Amino acid sequence: MDKFIINVPGDKSITHRCILLSAIAEGISIIKHYSAGLDCQSSLNAIKQLGVSYQIYATHLEIDGVGLDGLSLPETAIDCGNSGTTMRLLMGLLNGADIPATLVGDNYLTKRPMQRVKDPLTLMGSDIILSENNTAPVIVKSNQGLHAIDYTMPIASAQVKSAIILAAIYADGVTSITETAITRDHTEHLLKLYGHVCERKNNQITVQPAAKLNPINYTVPGDFSAAAFWIVAGLIVPDIQIEIKTVGINPTRTGLLEILALMGAKIDIIPIDNDGIEPVGDVVVSHCGLKGIKVPEHLVSLAIDEFPIIFVAAACAEGVTEIRGLAELRFKETDRISAMTDNLRSLGILVEELPDGVIITGGELQGGEVDSFGDHRIAMAMAIASLAAVGKVNIFNRDVVDVSYPGFFGELEKIKNVLIN
Ligand code: S3P
Repeated sequence: MDKFIINVPGDKSITHRCILLSAIAEGISIIKHYSAGLDCQSSLNAIKQLGVSYQIYATHLEIDGVGLDGLSLPETAIDCGNSGTTMRLLMGLLNGADIPATLVGDNYLTKRPMQRVKDPLTLMGSDIILSENNTAPVIVKSNQGLHAIDYTMPIASAQVKSAIILAAIYADGVTSITETAITRDHTEHLLKLYGHVCERKNNQITVQPAAKLNPINYTVPGDFSAAAFWIVAGLIVPDIQIEIKTVGINPTRTGLLEILALMGAKIDIIPIDNDGIEPVGDVVVSHCGLKGIKVPEHLVSLAIDEFPIIFVAAACAEGVTEIRGLAELRFKETDRISAMTDNLRSLGILVEELPDGVIITGGELQGGEVDSFGDHRIAMAMAIASLAAVGKVNIFNRDVVDVSYPGFFGELEKIKNVLIN
C-alpha cells in the first residue's frame, strides 16, 4: 500500500477572521500558517485600503492593528475579488466602524445575494445600497450609530452571522443572534483570543459591545475543507493511505466525517493538544467500499462546503445517494448543484437534479471533459474524481483552485505519479 502525508493550507475561514479582527485590534498580531490563497489576499487588500499595514514573512503574517476606531476611509472601491467572506464580513465591520465605502467583486461574486446581510444590518441602523438584483456593488453609507438587535437567522449562514457579530462589537447594547441550524463558529471562538466574550447558550449567541480588542499570536489550523478532498481521495482510490496533518476538526465543520461514516467509511482522527481555541487533529484514511445513503438534512450546514466532493464520493459508492436541503448550494461561488450534475454526467454517472439537491446512482467514472465553472471547489472535486476515473479527465479553467489551495495540483501530481508507476 502507498502512503501519502499531506499538509493542507491554513483554514480560509479562520484566516479571513484573523485578518479583519487583527485590523481593529490594538497593536501587532502575528498569524502563523495563514491561508495564502487569493480569497484571503482579498481581505488583506481590503484592510490595506482601510489604512492598516501588514507584512508577510516566510513563517507568518504580521498585522499592525489600528484599534476599533482607527480605520481610515478608502480612496477607491474595495475589490473583494471572488471572496464572499471578505464582502459579507466587511459589510458588518464597515457599518460598525461607520466607514462609508463601496464594495465590488468579480463576475461570480457580483451574482451572489447580499440582501441577507443587508437585512439584519439595516435593523441595526445601517444604510446600505445594493444593485437592483440585491447584489454587489454594495454601497455602505454613513450611519447614526448601530443599535443592538435580537435576530433569528432566516437562513443558515456563518457569513451573515459573522457580519452581525462584527457590527455588534460597535453597537449600543447586547446583540443576540439565534441560529435555526448550527453554522461554523470560528468568529465566536476567535473573539475570545482577542479578549472579547461572545457567549453561546444552545442556539443563541450574545455579543457585547467591545471597548478594545487585544492583538493575537495564533497558529491557524489546517483547512478541513481542503483536507476533505484528500479524505475522499483516500477512500475511493484503491491501495493508498493518506494522512493529513494538523487539520481543524471543529465539529461545526466536520459534517463530512459523519456523512462518510454513514456511507461505511472508517476514518481515524488523532487529536492534537493545542491552545484550545480550535480543535486540531491528524486525519488518516484508506480505501474502503462506500455505500449510497440518504444524507440526513441536519448535517447539511455542518458540511456546507463539502458537497462537491460528497457528490464524487456518492458517484463512487455502491447504490443510490439522495441529498436534499441543499438550496444554499445554488448561491455559492457557482451553482454547485447544477455544476456538479453537469460534470458527473459528463463522466457517465447517473444524476437526477432536484431543486434543492440530487439523487446520484453510483457507477464507474469514465474519462471526459469537465468544467470548474470558475469555482475552486468544483475544480478540486473533479480532480479527485479523475483519480478514480478509468479514462483521462480534462478540467477546464482548473487554475481557480488558487482561490483557496494554490498547491493543490502539486500534491495531486505526487499521488498520480505513484499510481502510474
Ligand atoms: C463561510 C461560510 C459559508 C461557506 C463559505 C465560508 C465563512 O458560507 O460556504 O465558504 O467563512 O463564514 P455561508 O455563510 O454563505 O453559508
